[in-house]
Amino acid sequence: MSIQQFANQFVCDLVAYEPGKPITETARELGLDPEAIVKVASNENPLGPAPMALDAIRNAATEMHIYPDGGGYKLRTALAEKYDLGLENVVLGNGSNEIIELLCHCFLNPEAELIAAEHAFVVYKLMATLFGAGYVEVPDPNFVHDLDAMADAITDKTRLVFIANPNNPTGTIVGEEAIERFMARVPDHVVVVFDEAYFEFLHDAPDTLKYVREGRNVVVLRTFSKAYGLAGLRIGYGLAAPQVAAILQKARQPFNTNEVAQRAALASLEDTAHVKATVDNNSEGLAFYEAAFQERGMNYVPSVANFILVEVGDGDAVFDGMLKQGVIVRAMRGYKLPGWVRISVGTAEENQRCLEVLDAVLAN
Ligand SMILES: Cc1ncc(COP(=O)(O)O)c(C=O)c1O
Repeated sequence: MSIQQFANQFVCDLVAYEPGKPITETARELGLDPEAIVKVASNENPLGPAPMALDAIRNAATEMHIYPDGGGYKLRTALAEKYDLGLENVVLGNGSNEIIELLCHCFLNPEAELIAAEHAFVVYKLMATLFGAGYVEVPDPNFVHDLDAMADAITDKTRLVFIANPNNPTGTIVGEEAIERFMARVPDHVVVVFDEAYFEFLHDAPDTLKYVREGRNVVVLRTFSKAYGLAGLRIGYGLAAPQVAAILQKARQPFNTNEVAQRAALASLEDTAHVKATVDNNSEGLAFYEAAFQERGMNYVPSVANFILVEVGDGDAVFDGMLKQGVIVRAMRGYKLPGWVRISVGTAEENQRCLEVLDAVLAN
């Protein structure tokens, strides 16, 4: 008799999330110097955390015997002020990933359905599966969310619609007009989630917070993992109308975000110079890759985020070949894109090294 037969079948059937390969693991397995490895696999900030966040982290160390402020008062207040919202609109999460999970805790069950785009961030599918709910995948021609088709897919069973904007791994965005048309068709039994993990990199971002201010059943997800460079601390947030935020608050652990993360996030909000340097570095990196791919006649998806999807033939083989030379990219088989890899924008030197290694692997 196996314990598996007593576990929820949909959990046993789950194919676990496969994160970007860690530097330490790569170094261990291939006998490489960790310092010489370039990881451009998880859309992290190549400039690191903000200097002001580093100070906050150091200062917090001596108080680690005290539980964190479970309500996250200071950080939530700062975020509410930043967006001209109230404290009741802000929910903190252990990464924005936790808020995706909280949404599923609150709104999914085996009778409910979640709608997302065909090449959407894979965690939505994992979470729908974890909660035994239906997962409705809507085709995204040219890798762009088709919001009209997503609105068509809404039924009485729909509880959540996820719009990753920009989406990971495609790096594409949907604009305000399409969003407006979509929102006009969304009924009240549906929560729309705008996952804006890469918001800070956008030069012309659609205004989705207006739906929160209007009191619609909308959650806007943002994170400190990307432009703010705090992926390791795990801190993100959701901005939602009070009736939605109050439900999410009930589902979270009492101390779901830790004190170091809260303080570092708070300090990061002040460090606007670091965000600017990050965004500038990213724009240069994207331009570098786009020019290089065009020069080589390679097929790529123009990106507004901090990564770029490029067609390489056999994505797994290119991933393996590059790994052996100490460059970690992300193979895309899990996204049903076996011919592609996703490359996160690094520093200028990292981008150069990544391209050289890609060229060498493709030349083999
Ligand atoms: C679209 C999208 N949403 C959410 C996340 C989760 O980020 P975090 O949990 O670090 O905030 C990611 C991470 O890669 C992402 O790409």
